[in-house]
Amino acid sequence: MSGPIVIFDSGIGGLSIFDEIRKVLPTQECCYLFDNARLPYGELEESVLIQGCVELICEQALRIGAELVVVACNSASTLVLPALRAQLSIPVVGVVPAIKPAAKLSQARHIGLLATPGTIKRSYTRELIEQFAGGCKVDLFGSSELVMLAEAKLAGEKLDFKLLEAQLKPIKESSLDTLVLGCTHFPILAPEMQQILGDGVTLLDSGAAIAQRVAYLLNELPQVRGDERAGNNRQKTLTAIYTTEEISAGLTTRLAEKGFTTIVSRSSANLG
Ligand code: DGL
Repeated sequence: MSGPIVIFDSGIGGLSIFDEIRKVLPTQECCYLFDNARLPYGELEESVLIQGCVELICEQALRIGAELVVVACNSASTLVLPALRAQLSIPVVGVVPAIKPAAKLSQARHIGLLATPGTIKRSYTRELIEQFAGGCKVDLFGSSELVMLAEAKLAGEKLDFKLLEAQLKPIKESSLDTLVLGCTHFPILAPEMQQILGDGVTLLDSGAAIAQRVAYLLNELPQVRGDERAGNNRQKTLTAIYTTEEISAGLTTRLAEKGFTTIVSRSSANLG
């Protein structure tokens, strides 16, 4: 077994990646760090986003002696990975929109990317499309409203279905057959999105692929293999750290249901 990993997002979106990681690494010690004070990231100035993410992630990774970092956020990954990798000597796994599998899958040769306004305007995303979706028509849809809807749903609030329908209207009117969920918040709304868009549209996200990559990298680490041979049984904890002073009772409950035993604000003392 390996040491702790940091899973990072602006909000609760990265929990869709956390869920996939738990499926393949059920006893992995995880620190879920979310910068909810600055949510939504899709609206942030790029230089501000880079600086803030690098500081926050590096500080936490060093504090807990993390073995790996997952940037479970497309808006951040499409921008901050080079700066982060320059600062950290551990593996950094980023999440980027599943353009390549979507282009392979689309029968109509017409795909969509639903992401944050930040992600759809990144040069990283444009290059991804040029490189992997050459033969396809690609429609881009940017929305921060959907980020906030996912936040509300996960915190147990009633979902504003009408608003969701309105946000998806341009997609419903398009003839695309494959839609990339290029924001980690969006799989949380996938059942309702599928209901609105119908079976003719396949929804794709990167969660399972990221989990496979994390498992692969952790098993590659020599000390991990050593620990496994030794049958290391040390207790694995799940910690959630947020950057606001407080979070809602609904979100605290949901995090606890997911197994997080320590749920604290970054400003609290004694984070370890
Ligand atoms: N979950 C994030 C993403 O994958 C960020 C959403 C936001 O804060 O705008 O892009």
